[in-house]
Amino acid sequence: MLESVKNFVNVRNLWIRYKVPKQWRFGYLDVDVIRGVSFSIDHGECYGLVGESGSGKTTILKAFMRLVKPYRGSIYVDGVDIFENDKKGREIVRRIGYVPQDPLTSVDPRMRVKDIVSEPLIALNVDRERALEKVVTLLELTGLDVEIMNKHPFELSGGMVQRVIIARSIISNPKIVLLDEPTSALDVITQAQILNLLKDLRDMMGFTYILVTHDLNVAKYISSRIGVLLKGYLIEEGDVKRIINEPLHPYTRIIVDAFRLRDVGELTYTTGARCPLSAACKYREDICRREMPPPIYLDGNMVRCWYFKK
Ligand SMILES: Nc1ncnc2c1ncn2[C@@H]1O[C@H](COP(=O)(O)OP(=O)(O)OP(=O)(O)O)[C@@H](O)[C@H]1O
Ligand SMILES: [Mg+2]
Repeated sequence: MLESVKNFVNVRNLWIRYKVPKQWRFGYLDVDVIRGVSFSIDHGECYGLVGESGSGKTTILKAFMRLVKPYRGSIYVDGVDIFENDKKGREIVRRIGYVPQDPLTSVDPRMRVKDIVSEPLIALNVDRERALEKVVTLLELTGLDVEIMNKHPFELSGGMVQRVIIARSIISNPKIVLLDEPTSALDVITQAQILNLLKDLRDMMGFTYILVTHDLNVAKYISSRIGVLLKGYLIEEGDVKRIINEPLHPYTRIIVDAFRLRDVGELTYTTGARCPLSAACKYREDICRREMPPPIYLDGNMVRCWYFKK
């Protein structure tokens, strides 16, 4: 398949809800955790998804893996709707690389490195001998000693485990690799080594990355554009340098201030169809307490704040 470079990935008006048990009563409640999210990514680009805990970052990645299904909207990869259950959709999803949050808990501790790394190929019915050859290549490519093939994850350092997981995520030659907080469990030096490895791999193999992080430093290091998630809404999107230097949305300003270690107070969020920041925002107008604004586009940037709807 020949990839189109522009808008290789297209997320269109994605809405995802979970069923959560009602408090004090029997039954379940539908709670929207992704609310009308749209973004697109060019082939070979790294798109950063930034937001605090519970904002919905992992849920978006799970949608790419078809582990959760949106009740509205869709995800297109190279023009194919991945939720259409045809051969093309299935094939694309099977070949998406995934580096899950919490690497150690995502692998079976009884498995050896060679079995962990080769797992996606075995699932694609590649024979074991060829899969093991590929494991050797991938271990070398990710800077690991081939000798560790027969070790268990608990015999490795955190940085080595993360390299093993990265090797596994790219062994089936994916077009897209989803990175869920790939460095959050690591010290600063190992973080930098892993981010450099991810950069090198992208340059060599032309991967398209979606990088989920709560750390603007990590996003800045590797992403060209970022989207900011607040309670399931994508509230701002733009060039990473512009976002850090001139954030538009009041919430983005808050996280940029936190990143620069300036004083950030407690935030109270509102629920419902209004802006989640409407109780805490010093720029709020009456309308902010009633409705969430639509995406507003300003010179290649997107922001969802009534302040800019002039
Ligand atoms: N299986 C589930 N059932 C019900 N609610 C869920 C489920 N998974 C996640 N949630 C809720 O959905 C919201 C978004 O969760 P998600 O894991 O996507 O957040 P996140 O941004 O990845 O957070 P973190 O930075 O802590 O990993 C949270 O409020 C979470 O409690
Ligand atoms: Mg998460």
